[in-house]
Amino acid sequence: MNRITIRGGTDQPTINRHIYGHFAEHLGRCIYDGIWVGEDSPIPNTRGIRNDVVAALRRIRVPNLRWPGGCFADDYHWKDGIGPKAQRPRTINMWGKVVENNHFGTHEFLDLCDQLGCEPYICGNVGSGTVQEMEQWIEYLTADGDSTMANLRRQNGRDAPWKIPFWGVGNENWGCGGHMTPEYYADLYCQYQTYLREYGGNRLMKIAGGYGGSDNDGSGLDAFMRHITNRRHRVRTDGVSLHYYVYLRHAQEHSATEFGEAEWFTVLNMAAQIEQAIAQHAAVLDRYDPEKRIWLIVDEWGTWYPAEPGTHPDFLYQQNSLRDAVVAALTLHLFHAACDRVRMANIAQTVNVLQAMILTQGEQMILTPTYHVFDMFKGHQDATRLAFDLECEAYTSGDKSLPAISASASQNAEGTILLTLCNLYPSQDVTLDCELRDLAVSGVTGSILTADEITAHNTFDQPDRVQPVPFTGAAIVDQQRLHIELPAKSVVALTLT
Ligand code: AHR
Repeated sequence: MNRITIRGGTDQPTINRHIYGHFAEHLGRCIYDGIWVGEDSPIPNTRGIRNDVVAALRRIRVPNLRWPGGCFADDYHWKDGIGPKAQRPRTINMWGKVVENNHFGTHEFLDLCDQLGCEPYICGNVGSGTVQEMEQWIEYLTADGDSTMANLRRQNGRDAPWKIPFWGVGNENWGCGGHMTPEYYADLYCQYQTYLREYGGNRLMKIAGGYGGSDNDGSGLDAFMRHITNRRHRVRTDGVSLHYYVYLRHAQEHSATEFGEAEWFTVLNMAAQIEQAIAQHAAVLDRYDPEKRIWLIVDEWGTWYPAEPGTHPDFLYQQNSLRDAVVAALTLHLFHAACDRVRMANIAQTVNVLQAMILTQGEQMILTPTYHVFDMFKGHQDATRLAFDLECEAYTSGDKSLPAISASASQNAEGTILLTLCNLYPSQDVTLDCELRDLAVSGVTGSILTADEITAHNTFDQPDRVQPVPFTGAAIVDQQRLHIELPAKSVVALTLT
């Protein structure tokens, strides 16, 4: 018997829309090809940025975009990416050692954010940069007066300063960003953040790189927090980042599109473990910040398989199947469950890299199953989470098991409820009784994302193999009760009025 009881009430936190953030790095074909084609390209573009990609991303209401990396951020010198394009230096990108012409830089990124209607999240260079370089970038971006950096911005065609709400102080400085200990990074963090000036009312959220990857238990974060706490003056940290990948990059037996039920389970089970990583990091933050001022920001997450055969292994291009859609739904549900602390997240990455929303090939573009989950779930953005109890059967494989159903519910300002569900079983339908307490329903509509096979994915020849269709499996029993038939391997979004 599977039963969910959803409770009304105002005591629940808001699901911050920034949980639905994205990440675009100068890596493989994410920026170049995927987003930037240049003004002279035959591919329809606005000031060099692809129109088809912008239109698709606008539909899912991207709230923020993290850039320029990733590992690339700690190798990026922002002055290479301003001024006349023909004069920009040709540098070597650490990802694949390919030449980077720097045609997509600060102005182009902020134009992209304007076109998307989203907020910029810039990650500054700690690993190979300097304090002065980061300080000047912020002055260039946000200062209004007659200063050299603000004038340089004007000379490059932008008069008004930009508003930059989110600033990362380095990326993975425990790894590709300098192989630092938490204590050493904490010292650098304190130093760098001192010079992150706030000009003209620009409120900058200062975000520290977390410590450790998917296998991290929070002890690195604890060392970092302890080290920045024992200072003569309080050091401001508004957010700390956590990265969590379903990391199978070197597991050659794993493939994005060729797998059986055992690998389906393995990947979903790895994705579900993010709950533990969040709990461990949240517990550390609770000790240092019981008022929950500091955001836990999962600014890289998603699946990471061996690169698609025939592609450059460093370009991290992979296909995206129905399994990835279920990973996305499950992960977003777990973010909602912890949304009193997890206030922002960024799936890796937007186009053509890792668990992408969009894949491109020349002028062609396809939407992935993961994109459709972001579309189906967008009503959760900034809605009030609803509390619920879920009793459901266990989906077991070997000695491991997962709840067979994953769920989340929220209510928006108009009172509409969005209930999202997934059935993790690869081949077993389930029935779910849904009870509403202190809430009432008179109408239900929905959509479902599923396919004939667990490996189903969209290709340039078959772009719509996995796409949402109307869902008719939910019936109102009475004002407080619904009966839901959830097909195997499906993600469902129900709107209850
Ligand atoms: O998203 C790909 C890479 O994964 C990022 O550059 C890095 O931060 C992480 O290790």
